[in-house]
Amino acid sequence: MNLAMPLPRIENRLCRNPAGERAELLAGLLQPEARINPKYFYDDLGCEIFTRICQLDEYYPTRTEESIFRAYAQQMACQLPDNAQWIDLGCGDCAKSRRWMDGLAPDRLIGIDIAADFLGLSLADLAAGYPRVECVGVVSDFTQQLDIAGLLAERPDSPPVFFYPGSSIGNFARADALHLLRSIHHHCGSAGRLLIGVDLVKPTDILESAYDDAEGVTAGFNLNVLNVVNRELDGDFQLEDFRHRAIFDRQQSRIEMQLVAKRDLVVRLGDSNRSFREGEHILTEYSHKYTPDGFAAILKEAGYAQPAVWTDPDGWFGIFLAGPV
Ligand code: AVI
Repeated sequence: MNLAMPLPRIENRLCRNPAGERAELLAGLLQPEARINPKYFYDDLGCEIFTRICQLDEYYPTRTEESIFRAYAQQMACQLPDNAQWIDLGCGDCAKSRRWMDGLAPDRLIGIDIAADFLGLSLADLAAGYPRVECVGVVSDFTQQLDIAGLLAERPDSPPVFFYPGSSIGNFARADALHLLRSIHHHCGSAGRLLIGVDLVKPTDILESAYDDAEGVTAGFNLNVLNVVNRELDGDFQLEDFRHRAIFDRQQSRIEMQLVAKRDLVVRLGDSNRSFREGEHILTEYSHKYTPDGFAAILKEAGYAQPAVWTDPDGWFGIFLAGPV
């Protein structure tokens, strides 16, 4: 990193309510159908395991999405404004945005992520390589609230391009996905665009093995959430009492990840107890799979025009480029 470079501006919009979050986590576990919000997967170990998942043979989304970008990035770039404000939703290490800094040369990159320290480092690194691009970080949970209208208005002549790769939109219930797409649309103005990666429907065996790999990496990822719960709620979940299960529900068109109790047991969660019968499960994640028409329909409902879509030869993954009507 070039230390002479000015550090990127970082705006912190995160309003944390740890007591409220803990109460919500406990309430989910005490429901008749116990559930844990998948955001709890991503402690340090969970992030490490997720990186390994993305490299698994069975887990096709990451490499398939990458292959589509490699094949069609130029075509996509032709349909994007070249003086854009590029907004990377959940930017992490900004690796996926980097190629666009050369190919599209936007005026500004706005990286949005929940992890403040990592965001600062990633943007500083990117800014050092692309001094012409103004890099701004926003620490926020954009899935709850996307409030960057003021920031975008600083550059009224640079249309926003929202970049949301990785198929995370599939982890939202349909109503929540629609809500997020609407809030992005609200920020698009007349010339803005959304470039989004979406996992598509495919045969059940391929889907289920992507979420239940032979090495047990995804099983470890799923079980690790119980460690997080133990820390958050002073719980005594024993990981060996549960097993990982991933089922594709074709009617709902989603993978459902669960943790299934291997025996009757009682778990202490702070001052509360939760009993599980053998075979009872905790729901930990949905991962919705769309058809190209199905996702175009949800985009339409959120206010966008008919999107352009690029897929791999097998039609396993889609990248959608949408703008307002
Ligand atoms: C982050 N998200 C897109 C992943 C997915 O495929 O739904 C999370 C994941 N869960 C298990 N494997 C991957």
